[in-house]
Amino acid sequence: MAEAKAYRNFIDGEWIESSSGADRPHRSPADRSEVLGTFQDSQAADVEAAVEAAARAFKRWRLVPAPKRAEYLFRMAEILVRRKEEYAREMAREMGKPLREARGDVQEAIDVCYYIAGEGRRMFGFTTPSELPNKACYATRMPVGVCALITPWNFPMAIPSWKLVPALVCGNAVVLKPATDAPLSAYHLVKIAQEVGLPRGVVNYVTGSGETVGGALLRHPKTTLVSFTGSSETGRQVSLACADTFKRASLEMGGKNAQIVMDDARLDLAVDGALWGAFATAGQRCTATSRIIVHRKVHDEFVRRFVERATALKVGDPLDESNDMGPLVSETQLKRVMDYVQIGRDEGAEPALGGVRLTKSEYGRGWYFPPTIFTGVDPKMRIAREEIFGPVVCVIPADSLEEALAIANDSVYGLSSSIYTQDVNRAFAAARDLEAGITYVNSSTIGAETHLPFGGTGRTGNGHREGAATTALEIFTEWKTVYVDYSGRLQKAQIDNN
Ligand code: UN1
Repeated sequence: MAEAKAYRNFIDGEWIESSSGADRPHRSPADRSEVLGTFQDSQAADVEAAVEAAARAFKRWRLVPAPKRAEYLFRMAEILVRRKEEYAREMAREMGKPLREARGDVQEAIDVCYYIAGEGRRMFGFTTPSELPNKACYATRMPVGVCALITPWNFPMAIPSWKLVPALVCGNAVVLKPATDAPLSAYHLVKIAQEVGLPRGVVNYVTGSGETVGGALLRHPKTTLVSFTGSSETGRQVSLACADTFKRASLEMGGKNAQIVMDDARLDLAVDGALWGAFATAGQRCTATSRIIVHRKVHDEFVRRFVERATALKVGDPLDESNDMGPLVSETQLKRVMDYVQIGRDEGAEPALGGVRLTKSEYGRGWYFPPTIFTGVDPKMRIAREEIFGPVVCVIPADSLEEALAIANDSVYGLSSSIYTQDVNRAFAAARDLEAGITYVNSSTIGAETHLPFGGTGRTGNGHREGAATTALEIFTEWKTVYVDYSGRLQKAQIDNN
């Protein structure tokens, strides 16, 4: 077998080994015998070098006109388009999502690059009249500085792009720390940033553990912003660390997303949406459907059809396009899912489908778990309240829209939500009353488009909305207000004109 490729950190425009010289192999979750490469096990000293490089680069990059900065991003998009298939294949092996979803992940990065590159010629600020004569006022966006980007494994190219690309167009320099479980797709993104000729130090890439590399980024006095996607528990630690040094923190965290199915819903559509929402990416999306709240009048029929269709889903090698679902990303994730299934059983729920790890020979070398459906779930059970992050979904009956909304909203999270109904009044009421950052009508809880705000309420986020929407600019810029007095004298606001 060919020796696994050794990937390095990218610091100040150079690909270099970590200061400790240590690295770790990355194995495919679909087949543990397959090593995709080795990645640096970086230390605080590597973070130090990366942040210092970014801080130096920032001084120059912030002065490059935004339309010029955007030109690099257009070129990145073009390379991504050309290499979409290659990167999608590597991603499917890297973290186990089926190839067609991996293509979607790369496509998301392409969409982000094109959309955000357009911002290079917009990035609107505003002007407004002064209360004083011969005086002009305007507000404009300024970069924040050195941004630490800490990204997850479930969208290993899309989510790094949500952060990296807007940060760059706004004139920031970045240090990207990709997930330990998926460093390769982020590597590709960074490699492209190098290929299009971004000035040295503007983008840095440091792999390693969350504790060591993430921790050092959080503590470093020169990182001015941390953009993090991951669990709410880690997000809380990020937030606390940022409070210490007054960094801006943009947090995108967990979900317990509900799909409501009303008695007037088109059940065929509702089942399609539930299958896609609950089992795409093996349920490892922050927006995955993990609760399906079904009107009692159609509950049994919905469950019958849903279980039947889920039974037919094919689980297996993510590169085999006849499969619907790949493995979970890691043994840790598999164990977590298995623990939750046991918790559900202990709480008195029984899976109507799945619930047992797949261990036949074709699954033997990967972390495979089947689509799992708990029915008759009480909304008070832990499986109905805690984020599982796997192919496990709870079906909960309800008697009315009001009750369905109350169950859906009874969650500490508020990322995505959905309602299936043919009644426009119910649809609009739900769009208003579902307490979540995103609501879909007659569509599943997943499938956000990049040019619209992405994020949620409660323990899901801390008020920011990312993706490529212009709301991402709010994360990566500071407002600067400028007053220009051309009266030739001292004018005092609030005093001279009253
Ligand atoms: C996530 O849920 O972790 O909306 C990100 C979607 C994708 C992004 C999801 N565009 O499903």
